[in-house]
Amino acid sequence: MTIARDPLGAVLCVVGARPNFMKMAPLFRALQMQPGCPPPVLVHTGQHYDAEMSERFFEDLGMPVPDINLEVGSASHAVQTAEVMKRFEPVIDAYHPACVIVVGDVNSTLACSLVSVKKSVPVAHVEAGLRSFDRTMPEEINRVLTDQISDLLFTTEKDAERNLLHEGVPSERIRFVGNLMIDSLLEHLDRAVPPETTLRQGGHDQASSLTQSPFAVVTLHRPSNVDDPGKLRHILSILTDVSERLPVIWPVHPRTRANIDKFGLAPVLQSSRIFTLPPQGYLEMLGLMKSALCVLTDSGGIQEETTALGVPCLTLRENTERPITVTQGTNTRVGTDRNLILRTIDELMAGGGKRGQVPEFWDGNAAKRIGAHLSQWLRDRTRLPV
Ligand code: UD1
Repeated sequence: MTIARDPLGAVLCVVGARPNFMKMAPLFRALQMQPGCPPPVLVHTGQHYDAEMSERFFEDLGMPVPDINLEVGSASHAVQTAEVMKRFEPVIDAYHPACVIVVGDVNSTLACSLVSVKKSVPVAHVEAGLRSFDRTMPEEINRVLTDQISDLLFTTEKDAERNLLHEGVPSERIRFVGNLMIDSLLEHLDRAVPPETTLRQGGHDQASSLTQSPFAVVTLHRPSNVDDPGKLRHILSILTDVSERLPVIWPVHPRTRANIDKFGLAPVLQSSRIFTLPPQGYLEMLGLMKSALCVLTDSGGIQEETTALGVPCLTLRENTERPITVTQGTNTRVGTDRNLILRTIDELMAGGGKRGQVPEFWDGNAAKRIGAHLSQWLRDRTRLPV
């Protein structure tokens, strides 16, 4: 690894996996423009490394090439986390950053936070306080631990602040700023790629007729849904039932694709009305979601994006760390209950489904709020007696 420069007092902005990129893009730009804020430096851990899971998002979102790429790649949780830590430590030593910003809940988020606090470098966690209360989720462990060791916690919804206070986080560390994911969505929505283009590029020639009528979009990648052969088979058979009601467009995550092959489940996906695609770029996903009648997903971010778009979302999980998407937005938790899923689809085909409202501060200005809070906080810190 070569370290290009050594700007004392930089703000290191860490990204690792696909859902980090759309959060960091607007924030990185806001920090560059924030008066009094040290220069941001972009660090990619390389947790996601395929062009279609990583590089393409930098292009779509207008993000600069990372200053540093740690190139950790895939491994078990322990090895991946440890590898990020090992490779991030020399970056801290070289940059002596004023602070490190981490986003979301992926392994890179926890790994870089841990290295930073042990080097006495303050950590700001964006999207703090979200809780599924399901500790079998690797992301929940990453969230709880990152929040405990962060100095500044930026939240997207009021429930998150309640969770943090309940866990003993002092209120003066918490700032309610809104949702960076929605900053990106609002910025790029008018560049969304039409679904017929995406389908044609994916080799589905019946594309244009398909998108004239209602369709569902599916995404699936949670270990709890896709790592067990019986569970994955069950979900695939539900999707086949859904496709008898509505054509299904499904960009398949690499983890899920690998497991479908490994478990010999491809024959379960026989429906001629399920259109699978490789992982899609940001603008393609926006186009698919925006035009869908509904989205079925186990993603965290997509629950928020569908709420912002006013598109009904069926979350194929027993819990959500984003309850506001259910109480205010368009989200319905359906688990993997076939009858409930089919009934919900029937209802929304008949009546349009849940429309909801857009939560407070999901207004495209979260990055500016974070930039202002962060630079004020850094200024205040330097005035404190050592
Ligand atoms: C990770 C995050 C999850 C996030 C998701 C979004 C953790 C614990 N999980 O899960 O929170 O919602 O990213 O995608 O950090 N792979 C590729 N190409 C890539 C990246 C991954 O083929 O560019 C393959 C890996 O080899 C692995 C699988 O996909 O077999 C899973 O990747 P991994 O980074 O372990 O976790 P995700 O399931 O993507």
